[in-house]
Amino acid sequence: MTVHGGLGTPPTDDGTATMRAVVLDRFGDCGGLRIADDVARPVPVVGELLVRVVAAGLNPMDVTTRAGVGDAVGVAGLPAVLGHDFSGVVVRAPYEAFRLQPGDEVYGVSAAPRATGSFAEYVTVPAQQVAPKPKVLSHTEAAAVPLAATTAWGTVVELAKAHEGQRILVHAGAGGVGHFAVQLGAYFGAHVIATASGRNVGWLRELGAAETVDHTTTRFEDAVAAVDTVIDLVGDPHDRTGPRSLGVLRPGGLLVHVPSGGWPTLVEDAQRAGVRATTYRTVPDAATLAVIGRLITSGDLRVAVQEVFPLEEIAAAHRLVEGGHVRGKVVIQVTDY
Ligand SMILES: NC(=O)c1ccc[n+]([C@@H]2O[C@H](COP(=O)([O-])OP(=O)(O)OC[C@H]3O[C@@H](n4cnc5c(N)ncnc54)[C@H](OP(=O)(O)O)[C@@H]3O)[C@@H](O)[C@H]2O)c1
Repeated sequence: MTVHGGLGTPPTDDGTATMRAVVLDRFGDCGGLRIADDVARPVPVVGELLVRVVAAGLNPMDVTTRAGVGDAVGVAGLPAVLGHDFSGVVVRAPYEAFRLQPGDEVYGVSAAPRATGSFAEYVTVPAQQVAPKPKVLSHTEAAAVPLAATTAWGTVVELAKAHEGQRILVHAGAGGVGHFAVQLGAYFGAHVIATASGRNVGWLRELGAAETVDHTTTRFEDAVAAVDTVIDLVGDPHDRTGPRSLGVLRPGGLLVHVPSGGWPTLVEDAQRAGVRATTYRTVPDAATLAVIGRLITSGDLRVAVQEVFPLEEIAAAHRLVEGGHVRGKVVIQVTDY
């Protein structure tokens, strides 16, 4: 893991009305991003906590929103502060006897892009999307977890119902979602097959993949067959991974198509091929984050952070994620706690 920048002062609620944040002035390339010190500090409303952000995970969703596609439709207006994942410290709780109180270390998913996001010193977060940070993790590690791990849980555990004897194919096993998906599938006893480039296949075996396919040298349909579930984290526009996956499923098998958009005839195409298919949208929740936290604490789920960038280098972080070959996650160090 490469870490740029360091750690220092503890968090405070100094009551100031403004904060430091990454602001998006216009949709498009990274030129629309800038650091501002005078962004209005968000004020929690009913059902929300105010959290001082220590680190924020960067997801492909943040990158596509910046570019003006995907969830950009949810941006109320520009300038905007993006960022879903965070790890930090509670500054204000909904009420005195609430389960999380000021000073508690938490991780979760913000309500961005409708609300101010996590690439900022403070974020407001719906109480049902925040959980105690696993103590075994640093804030930079914890910030890498929420969106990716809840997506992996939703697809591998809730949709695929991973179990012993089941064959699960995970496309992009080395990415943010993929490295959690591979581990969760293996944890629940499934025979996990993962695709990645050659440099990552050994690592995926360490994470629990029973088989790997190097997508740079081998077409997966030449190496894999009779799969119960495909978790596709690459998607239709890239190398037609989705349509090609229909042919490797057993009759009645399930394709989970995770990347947003791009395949309007997904369900009909699957029916014609004699299999089932669904898209997927993450619905982050505190209970799942708590279970994931327990698996991390017990050592059954590992978190891989490829690189940590300071807030000032957010554009470089965006470019790295946009390149599509991150191993694990990219995280932004937001404050010095
Ligand atoms: N719908 C939702 O709610 C939701 C939630 C989370 C994520 N997503 C979407 O799911 C996708 C995955 O997210 P992520 O965070 O895991 O992305 P990511 O971390 O950026 O994925 C990067 C990984 O993709 C791998 N990869 C690239 N091309 C590949 C190919 N042709 N075959 C196999 N692997 C390939 C790379 O491995 P190599 O370098 O080894 O090639 C790299 O490790 C994104 O499209 C994201 O937007 C959707």
